Amino acid sequence: DIPRQGIIARYRDWLPVPPGAEPITLGEGDTPLIRADRLLEQLPPDRRPPGLFLKFEGANPTGSFKDRGMTMALTCARARGAQAVICASTGNTAAAAAAYAARAGMECWLVLPAGGVAAGKVGQAVACGARILPVRGSFDDALAAVRQVVTERPDLVLVNSLNPDRLEGQKTAAFEVVDQLAARGEDEPAAVFLPVGNGGNITAYHMGFATYATAGRLGRLPRLYGVQAEGAAPLVRGRPVDQPQTVASAIRIGRPVYGDRALAAVRETGGRVLAVSDEEILAAQRLLARLEGVFVEPASAASVAGLLKLARGNEPGWEVPEGPVVCVLTGHGLKDVDTALRAARSGDAGSADLAALEAEALEPDAIV
Ligand code: F0G
Repeated sequence: DIPRQGIIARYRDWLPVPPGAEPITLGEGDTPLIRADRLLEQLPPDRRPPGLFLKFEGANPTGSFKDRGMTMALTCARARGAQAVICASTGNTAAAAAAYAARAGMECWLVLPAGGVAAGKVGQAVACGARILPVRGSFDDALAAVRQVVTERPDLVLVNSLNPDRLEGQKTAAFEVVDQLAARGEDEPAAVFLPVGNGGNITAYHMGFATYATAGRLGRLPRLYGVQAEGAAPLVRGRPVDQPQTVASAIRIGRPVYGDRALAAVRETGGRVLAVSDEEILAAQRLLARLEGVFVEPASAASVAGLLKLARGNEPGWEVPEGPVVCVLTGHGLKDVDTALRAARSGDAGSADLAALEAEALEPDAIV
């Protein structure tokens, strides 16, 4: 097939696209699956799986996995005659909605938690001409507002993951994980780690793996591990969190819409949910960048933080997988440069031999 033609062209037979619909695409999907041997060495030798891979979703056109869902949502909405879309977002959904709506020639309304979205994401949405409505509170408050608005304005199509077209598009990442490992002669994935906010993406991966299993393309579903930030871990705590807090703003969510589906996905595959601290998230972000050259936003580093935590034995419940482990890196580090600079400044900024130069050096953010 032709590379980077977008997930609808690539997987159309597996997607409920209205007949004749012209895809709204930016060439999303087909993202790198990166072997991470240096990161793997961070796990205790007796607790290492046979391989570790990073599914780098930050390589999508707007820098996150949301593009997979948004190409489907906008394609289907336009095919049904819609002219405007709306969503609540911690930022990535907003950036993707704005970009795909612009491409579709449609209007885009974004309801965002004031002060809760990384600058890169707001910049993307503004540049694409979206109308931005900040609300006080968290993502959960923004989503509640949007759900209310769409009952009064049926002309606005909701493109949060409540829209089933979104999950259909996002399930193609699971197809790619299976197809890419097979193309390299690797075993099937044994475990997949994902950051969890609203629970939509882990639900989509579960759908994708189950679809491939039913079609005979996958022998056994990988164990799904859903990783939340400690201050925003309603699925781990078993109850909603009213004022979610975490450095990982993308997953700062206290009332996940797909909570039950996410828990079912981990239960049915023999995985689990777990929480990691902000320190563990930032440490994993740093390791990814320094050992593998992969710069991700904090929420994305949660998947790696979860793997490190389980494999290092700081949490019970880790059976060493017999096949490859995949960590899904949901968003690019350029989305949230401020957090990376702050983390570098507040501690270990790295060691270099250029001692004299270092003595003179300014903080990294003095450059911009
Ligand atoms: N990682 C990133 C980078 C995200 O932006 C999100 C969600 C998730 C993980 C979690 O996915 O919600 O399906 O469990 N971002 C949404 C947004 C909430 O508005 O961009 P989930």
